[in-house]
Amino acid sequence: MFRSINFVRQFAGVCFSEASTVAGISPRVREFREKLSENVGKNMLNDSFGRHHNYLRISLTERCNLRCRYCMPAEGVKLTPRDGILTTDEIIQIADLFVKEGVEKIRLTGGEPTVRKDLVDIIAQLKQLDGLKSIAITTNGLTLIRQLPSLQRAGLDSLNISLDTLKEKRFEQFTRRRGWARVIAAIDLAVQLEFNPVKVNCVVMRGFNDDELVDFVNFTKDKPIDVRFIEYMPFSGNEWKENKMVSYDEMVTIIRKKHPEFQKISDKPNDTSKAFKVPGFQGQVGFITSMSQNFCSSCNRLRITADGNLKVCLFEGKGEVSLRDAIRSGASEDDLKKLISDTVLKKKKQHAGMINLSHMENRPMILIAPVRRIQCNNKKSKNKKTKSQRKLKIERQNNLYINNLTKKMHNNKTIKLERHFQEFRIASRKYSTLSHVDETGKASMVDVGSKEITKRVAKARGFICVGKTIGKLIAENSMKKGDVLGIAQLAGIMAAKKTSDLIPLCHPLSLNYVNVSLKLNDNLEGVDIFSEVRCTGQTGVEMEALTAVSVAALTIYDMCKAAGPPDTMKISGVQLVSKSGGKRDFMREDFSGES
Ligand code: 5AD
Ligand code: SF4
Repeated sequence: MFRSINFVRQFAGVCFSEASTVAGISPRVREFREKLSENVGKNMLNDSFGRHHNYLRISLTERCNLRCRYCMPAEGVKLTPRDGILTTDEIIQIADLFVKEGVEKIRLTGGEPTVRKDLVDIIAQLKQLDGLKSIAITTNGLTLIRQLPSLQRAGLDSLNISLDTLKEKRFEQFTRRRGWARVIAAIDLAVQLEFNPVKVNCVVMRGFNDDELVDFVNFTKDKPIDVRFIEYMPFSGNEWKENKMVSYDEMVTIIRKKHPEFQKISDKPNDTSKAFKVPGFQGQVGFITSMSQNFCSSCNRLRITADGNLKVCLFEGKGEVSLRDAIRSGASEDDLKKLISDTVLKKKKQHAGMINLSHMENRPMILIAPVRRIQCNNKKSKNKKTKSQRKLKIERQNNLYINNLTKKMHNNKTIKLERHFQEFRIASRKYSTLSHVDETGKASMVDVGSKEITKRVAKARGFICVGKTIGKLIAENSMKKGDVLGIAQLAGIMAAKKTSDLIPLCHPLSLNYVNVSLKLNDNLEGVDIFSEVRCTGQTGVEMEALTAVSVAALTIYDMCKAAGPPDTMKISGVQLVSKSGGKRDFMREDFSGES
């Protein structure tokens, strides 16, 4: 109710106030109004200080599957009712308007954007907007290993994954949930899938994770990632204290004690972070200094909250206007443009200083209003578990299972690789003339130690016939078990990396790149699978490429077998199509080089 009255006032204000320029107003107001009328005709994205806003951040939801201490209280926050949240169509309508006016980059945020079921659809529709150059997402990474391939296929260009600690136990303390290993695996997968850049957001809090600064810098040694240290910011309800904030200067000093060569490198235009690097490290580091040194003068971003408010500054709660209400009241495109333009023109030159901010009411990252704590019904919770508590318990058990599994995969990988190396070196063939058999007649690996290190590439293909019924379900992405092509792609990639665990005489290799692409054929009867694997090493990667195709095909088989008659499903034609970098290059005659 309040919202709609407020909207009528704000909306009407824009429509009718321009005509009311009268004599006797102060020079400052006159100047403001002149700028307003100059700019309204030109571009709704320009503010009165000459800043052009070509970067839009859209929050898709207020919900989140973590409870980070710096963001929200343990019991969560009271959420806007579902019908108050922007629908897919409204999001696209708003984005379309901004892109037409010059927005080039859109970032999807939350809450946690991956909890929204229509995320793939939203990205795919945004991708169609003419003029939009980049779609990014900020996510906590918890469910990303499952979703990332489909997000990439829909058109996602880059991503920021939040990770505040490299210690599993501490992650649970920080976020009040489990899932550290899954986030680490998500970062690895994002690198594998060649997202560029992969940024890792780390909010630094004294007494919590300030002892991990150097560990995070070392994390960039062998990974092409950009770790960004963020100064802890105050939001209503997050119990910010000045002494908990570690400033940019202090962080650099701490890091330089261990890495004296840690050096400033050039920033990209409009970057809000200050970029640094340890020479020789693959990745880099950035500092987001919202508290100690604001970047207001070059700010080019606007925000849309999950319930449809336009927010011109992260730290400014009062100047919000509801685009949702405008759209739902039937505002025309021109009306919307005027509304936006007026709000943007009210953007202040800069936000309040660090200490002032901590005393001001401002929504936490996750919400648009001050935090409202959820009331707990203690009686009920003591005696009988509610439906949501039971659900949470099952979710926790599932999380624990997946965590253990992922952790095992991680631990096993390194331990097993070492064991493989040792065992196979000892068993290296001395007398046998057969390359894969030792002196006792037992299987043995080829010692490739003396081979030249070269860039190796192998490509493989295969096909799985699924029949039209299943093919249609895959095309509509309505298979009960989930996104068949997305999961098969992921399975293929993971399998390529584990080839030496599966095929006894294969060398464990450190792969530079794995990609698996899957395409339903035109008559929807089967899926063509194609893989490409690259490494720099002493032996080829054809087994990895073949394993990727085979496991992707088996995954499709597994996900679809219950949906149609078994006799229709058939895997065929798994074959190497090209390889290069070894003694002899090879390419199948019927293969053009393209997938
Ligand atoms: N201070 C700094 N950054 C914050 N974030 C959320 N709350 C805060 C805060 N109080 C940022 C984190 C997280 C992203 C979703 O929002 O970087 O990764
Ligand atoms: Fe969720 Fe992000 Fe807030 Fe953490 S910081 S609780 S991941 S929205």
